Amino acid sequence: MNNGSIGAFDSGLGGLTVVSQIHKYLPDESIVYFGDTGRVPYGSRSNETIIRYAKQDINFLKSKDVKIIVAACGTVSSVASNAANGLDIPFVEVVTPASEMAAKTTKNGNIGVIGTAATVASHAYKNRIIGIDKDIQVFEQACSLFVPFVESGFIDPNDPLVEGIVRRYLDVFTDKNIDTLILGCTHYPILSPIIKKVMGEGVTLINTGEAAALKVKEILTNGDMLAEKKGESHFFVSDTTQTFMQTSEILLGKSLDFDVQKIDIEKY
Ligand code: DGL
Repeated sequence: MNNGSIGAFDSGLGGLTVVSQIHKYLPDESIVYFGDTGRVPYGSRSNETIIRYAKQDINFLKSKDVKIIVAACGTVSSVASNAANGLDIPFVEVVTPASEMAAKTTKNGNIGVIGTAATVASHAYKNRIIGIDKDIQVFEQACSLFVPFVESGFIDPNDPLVEGIVRRYLDVFTDKNIDTLILGCTHYPILSPIIKKVMGEGVTLINTGEAAALKVKEILTNGDMLAEKKGESHFFVSDTTQTFMQTSEILLGKSLDFDVQKIDIEKY
């Protein structure tokens, strides 16, 4: 047993969709979350910068004595998971568990992947899936406007503007006959109802947060590291806490009952 917290970080608020999956599968665990809201987005930056940021994010969570660290960010998981090299506690990124889940889910061997520009340019999901089964065909698409839409609260499935943007990006899959689509960025589950509507019932959406939460559960269970009693969760950001409160209500789909503190991430 280990009553320490699960540490999770993202470039901003998208990682809260991972937190909500951790709450679902591990309701007795407490969480320390860091959202790098002062430096979001990561997805349009160079790999060197993303790795440097990820190292600082990991150092911050280490300073909070967490028992496991989750990169709750598709971009960090795709291009910067080596930032965790040498870490003396378990580390979970989202690419591997989501790729395994997608490879298990597909029936016709055609998988789509959507993510940020950096994620898609890295081909991380594609390479991982082909490593599992070289006969699977993987089709990738960067959806750069999805993150700003979610961050701005444009998520209504009945809003023709949002549907138009989603259709514009996902049109590329029309003739690919995919039956599985990885939402390779942690913001995207918020757009699931619209993505589902556009892709149709025949396409299964893979929520990277769910895949990662199940991996965390497996590691904590096998390592006898589950909490005996729930402690407090703590949330930290690198920019104004006001925006975090507003947007996180959209992402978590409920009012917040926790405190948010601002920290200086450059110190880590
Ligand atoms: N949360 C990031 C991801 O999962 C998207 C936002 C960003 O570009 O930093 O890729």
